Amino acid sequence: MNRNIVCIGAGYIGGPTMAVIAKMNPDRKVMVVDINAERIAAWNSEDYSLPIYEPGLVDVVKEVRGRNLFFSTDIEGAVKECDIIFVGVNTPTKMFGRGAGRASDLQYWEATAREIKRFAECDKIVVEKSTLPVRTAAAMEAILNGGRGEGEEGTKGSGIQFTVLSNPEFLAEGTAIKDLLEPDRVLIGGPQTDAGAKAIQAVVDIYATWVPRERILTTNVWSAELTKLAANAFLAQRVSSINAIAGLCEATGADVDEVARVIGADGRIGPKFLKAGPGFGGSCFKKDVLNLVYLCESFGLHTAAEYWMGVIRMNQHQQERIVSRLFAAMFNTLANKKIALFGFAFKADTGDTRETPAGTVARLLAEEHVRVTITDPKALVNARRDLADLSDVTYEEDEYKAAEGADAIILMTDWRHYPTLDWNRIYDSMRKPALVFDTRNCLAAAELRKIGFRVLNVGK
Ligand SMILES: NC(=O)c1ccc[n+]([C@@H]2O[C@H](COP(=O)([O-])OP(=O)(O)OC[C@H]3O[C@@H](n4cnc5c(N)ncnc54)[C@H](O)[C@@H]3O)[C@@H](O)[C@H]2O)c1
Repeated sequence: MNRNIVCIGAGYIGGPTMAVIAKMNPDRKVMVVDINAERIAAWNSEDYSLPIYEPGLVDVVKEVRGRNLFFSTDIEGAVKECDIIFVGVNTPTKMFGRGAGRASDLQYWEATAREIKRFAECDKIVVEKSTLPVRTAAAMEAILNGGRGEGEEGTKGSGIQFTVLSNPEFLAEGTAIKDLLEPDRVLIGGPQTDAGAKAIQAVVDIYATWVPRERILTTNVWSAELTKLAANAFLAQRVSSINAIAGLCEATGADVDEVARVIGADGRIGPKFLKAGPGFGGSCFKKDVLNLVYLCESFGLHTAAEYWMGVIRMNQHQQERIVSRLFAAMFNTLANKKIALFGFAFKADTGDTRETPAGTVARLLAEEHVRVTITDPKALVNARRDLADLSDVTYEEDEYKAAEGADAIILMTDWRHYPTLDWNRIYDSMRKPALVFDTRNCLAAAELRKIGFRVLNVGK
């Protein structure tokens, strides 16, 4: 068995993860392959206009691309050449048939399993990097190690042993490179057999070049698969919990930032992930919680399913509440008013707009016939694509131009430079009374009020 590594899927997970693995394992060849030729071309672009934005990513790619990291569309060649195969393809929420709106759509994952089986010529370790429902590894093993189907063309599977591990990724977009270089923990789940133990060790060796051994945790496969879903559900639940308190703060005169500070001072709770805001976004939280809901339902655990579903409902409610409060503050009519959304990415330091709260807010405003202008330093390309069906939306790179003539600004993403903008200049260019709804509580509200703005915050 050789030490070469391939990751199938060159997305937000495959690209950065393999770039860091290549950086920290200069003696290994690392390949990243994808069916999307455009994406691979972007990863290979001479001017490093990579398909995703992550702080620090370009520097790592500059260091390793062409040295021991290679991006390609040649899936067959890579599977033949590499004996450790990570699978990082997308597993979105299924939108049709059984489990629609809840379960994971596993078609990309299954297609990948079949490709691996078709092209493999010797024993392989297959590592689930994608987030998958519990017991997916069993299905993967069944496909990979199952007999050759009658007339199944090109299958070289017979006699080849595939060992399936789960190595879910815990990085957060926006801090992906830092999270990969200094992970809180790396989780590797595998079968409790001799082959499983060897395969686990082979993957431990990849990470042990830079991750302290005590942070590399090994479990059985099912625990690893479930842990990823549970970890994201816990994080999402904290966001929904503090947002549920935020509404109560607005109604009672309490201040959610003060409440969160004191709650978080309790060592059992801790201060992180207790920031009230517009709700969580990103490709993972909603999808993974829905997946958990579906699993609970499948096993007859209906009360647990309802409990987790509440986390999603609370999140949706938060964006509806933002628009309702704005509506009330703007004299119960939004039609024909201009509203500028500052930030469209689901959080700062990423261009990713999947499930972004700003998308929901933009659509709710469009329903009210608002003229929406969106500005964002990294996410305008994605914003244009996401809202292509809305006609009355404009896109503006320059924040000052976006604010010109606007009745209100809704700050949706906590880009670091927003508090440092010239808010006097912005105020002067807006229609009066000018309102700022800071859904991230990151602007100096007292200063804005001094300038003349009306200011709304979440949870205050
Ligand atoms: N984005 C994150 O922050 C994050 C974090 C942890 C885990 N994950 C999980 O990682 C997985 C991938 O997420 P992502 O955000 O990187 O998705 P993505 O959509 O950015 O990338 C997936 C890539 O897989 C490719 N692909 C699909 N089918 C293929 C096939 N048969 N052969 C080759 N390539 C194929 C797609 O073309 C795409 O480029 C998901 O399961 C997700 O839940 C994502």
